[in-house]
Amino acid sequence: ERIMPEPYRIKMVEPVKVPDRDEREEALKRAHYNMFGLRSQDVYIDLLTDSGTGAMSKYQWGALMIGDEAYAGADSFFSLKKAVKEILGFDYVVPTHQGRAAENVVFGTLVKKGDVVPFNMPFDTTRAHIFNNGGEPLDCVIDEAYHPEVQHPFKGNVDIKKLEAAVAKYGKDRIPFVMVTITNNSGGGQPVSLENLRQVSDVCRSHGILLLLDGARMAENAYFIKTREEACRGMSVAEILKETMNTADAITVSCKKDPLVNIGGMVCSRTEELHNSFLPRVILFEGYATYGGLAGRDLEALALGLREMVDEQYLAHRVAQVRYLGDLLGEGGVPCVTPAGGHAIFIDAAAFLPHIPQSAYPADVLGIEIYREGAIRGIGLGALAFATPDETGRIVYPKLELFRLAINRRTYTNHHIEFIAQTILDVYGRRDAIRYGLKEGYAPAVKGMKHFLVHLE
Ligand code: F0G
Repeated sequence: ERIMPEPYRIKMVEPVKVPDRDEREEALKRAHYNMFGLRSQDVYIDLLTDSGTGAMSKYQWGALMIGDEAYAGADSFFSLKKAVKEILGFDYVVPTHQGRAAENVVFGTLVKKGDVVPFNMPFDTTRAHIFNNGGEPLDCVIDEAYHPEVQHPFKGNVDIKKLEAAVAKYGKDRIPFVMVTITNNSGGGQPVSLENLRQVSDVCRSHGILLLLDGARMAENAYFIKTREEACRGMSVAEILKETMNTADAITVSCKKDPLVNIGGMVCSRTEELHNSFLPRVILFEGYATYGGLAGRDLEALALGLREMVDEQYLAHRVAQVRYLGDLLGEGGVPCVTPAGGHAIFIDAAAFLPHIPQSAYPADVLGIEIYREGAIRGIGLGALAFATPDETGRIVYPKLELFRLAINRRTYTNHHIEFIAQTILDVYGRRDAIRYGLKEGYAPAVKGMKHFLVHLE
């Protein structure tokens, strides 16, 4: 199958250089072997995250010039509000400086100590924000999500039985809302079906519990629905996205992902009552309710990004490009989460380096080796990020030990993809000779924050 060429042409270039092997070793040492510690100039292809790293369109760059920087009631806020209504169908929106700020606003308002929040799976900062507000996230994703090799078109789906059991156990009083992450980043960028969201919505509605979505990658999720959900074949991505949103009472969005901006977030709400409940915390932590920590120009770029993200040619290429990387790796025998995710390929590090125990952080060893091989940066999402002690102090390891290669939007070409695949295949060829583990030096004490700041030895 021929890979679709990029549906854009390059208007401005950002030169990058390839550091030599000695420079890479030096950079690793300076970074304390933590990928977050590397400087961008030490990286040739940066797949640390797809967050805020995409390329804006000429229309977005043009729109920056018309940003209205009024403190309250800026025109640019109304551009955003109009786009949110048209693309997502919500009447109420409040901007925030990024996704986790939206979470801080929402969770700080709705979660109280002792609460339980059922998710399919929360992302790492989302999980940390639930903890930070005294709550406990509860993973209710379908079992298939824990088996990288098992095929399922919607591996991000909520297991309705698990959800119902959670509702029966904790009840409405301890469950402030149910939240579904679309696509499920921590589980491999896997989509959630519209049918599943409707079922979750029915469960929530029948118990009077709110349903929230984490919509960071909602357009990619809608594209997967279009290509995989029989009942939605004839619908446009834009229509599917609206139907998706219709299942929810509110959404938090990191606009640095699908909405194609370098910075920004938002909370969209169905009712004025819910919206109003969020505003005091927005003003406390972000800024006045019509700018929420963003410049007026950022709001203009975001309003356009929301429209551009549902472009089906763009989405077709994006999803195909990510799958291309997955196919090249899969053909070479590299164990990956399959099917390919929407924004990233997740290597099964436990299967790639089976001789390294999870306590020695194989996903992060793999990160070091891939950087050594090709100056490519990805990120481990395994024990280092997610292992937590239980009440007795015993470490509970996550079921998945993954290494993520996140593809930036509209940034790298298919040739970059081929180079990435070849680099990883070279590491795979010498995997038996990778015989070391990592241990922690300095590590911050705050729960959920370790992998960002840890020094590794
Ligand atoms: N929700 C999801 C599903 C995310 O993937 C992220 C961020 C956030 C919320 C938080 O948003 O970064 O704007 O504050 N994910 C990035 C990543 C950082 O690399 O996957 P933010």
